[in-house]
Amino acid sequence: MNSTITAALTTEEELQQLKSSLPNELWFNSYPMYFYQNCWNIILESTISCQNHFKAQDSDIFIASIPKTGTTWLKSLIFSIFNRKNYPISENPLLKHNPHELIPQLESIIYANPQNPDLKTLEKKLNYPRILGTHLPIQSLPTSIKNSNCKIIYICRNPFDTFVSSWLFYLNYDENTNVKDDMIEEYFGKFCEGKFPFGGFEDHVLGYWKESLERSGKVMFMKFEDLKDDPKSELKKLGEFVACPFSSEEEEDGVIDEIVKMCSIEKLKEVEANKSGRVYSFIENKWFFRKGEVGDWVNYLNPCMVERFEKVMSEKFAGYGLEL
Ligand code: A3P
Repeated sequence: MNSTITAALTTEEELQQLKSSLPNELWFNSYPMYFYQNCWNIILESTISCQNHFKAQDSDIFIASIPKTGTTWLKSLIFSIFNRKNYPISENPLLKHNPHELIPQLESIIYANPQNPDLKTLEKKLNYPRILGTHLPIQSLPTSIKNSNCKIIYICRNPFDTFVSSWLFYLNYDENTNVKDDMIEEYFGKFCEGKFPFGGFEDHVLGYWKESLERSGKVMFMKFEDLKDDPKSELKKLGEFVACPFSSEEEEDGVIDEIVKMCSIEKLKEVEANKSGRVYSFIENKWFFRKGEVGDWVNYLNPCMVERFEKVMSEKFAGYGLEL
């Protein structure tokens, strides 16, 4: 990375200069990714803009993830935790809005137009506390997120389910004219080399894992599989982490169960806003809800592919006590 032209980058010329100095790849033959700050960044200009301008507040909450690990689900859960006293469950705004509308992504919604970020959305639409999503790896977060007392909840998922979910998601895109489903092995190879949106997968996960060990009050590390296995316990831990714990009366009254049900994939799939419409111009909301299962990768990946990435992971994670 050319470090002399990163943090203070402002002009189009400097951006072009930076881009031409970085390794780059076309994901799905269509979407440029730049290897920036040890990550295959698919939204470089917006990343730099929010790094330069975004000011985190101590009360902010961030939902961080590499794409396809359960971001949409976690957003719906966190939204419901904070708003459970503002609306009866039958009027939960999740029944009318896609979770990404209620909890926007920092770099791809607020800073989607890097020259003219949508700060109004940031200030107006979000109830206190401000809750935002981000796919940036920990080393690329705006400094104020790292240095303030805001909290980060990171969700990760088995890499094979993550890859398959992403693979099927990108096959939906109109622009994707050249990639066919029999090319999965080639694309899995890229995943193993880290060439994956916001990858390498293992670096993204490990960065937040280490931070969660060093600053456990700031970063909470969650697994998609634990949420599937025991959503109630995970919801209680989430509530405590964001200082919005469930009381024993609430638990007895079934408030946690109601939220789990409200945020289930079956329920969210029925919502009209999730069946049609788009929060991002290039993504149909319905693509965010597929199966939501653990282990669906067995239907797509062969043992050689699995073995290859397991080797990558075991080398990377050795000594850190992280198992996926
Ligand atoms: P699958 O493609 O394996 O079904 P993200 O939100 O990070 O883009 O992740 C999308 C994945 O989470 C998809 O996985 C999607 O089906 C799943 N998902 C979305 N909402 C969910 C929910 N409420 N419960 C469980 N899984 C959910």
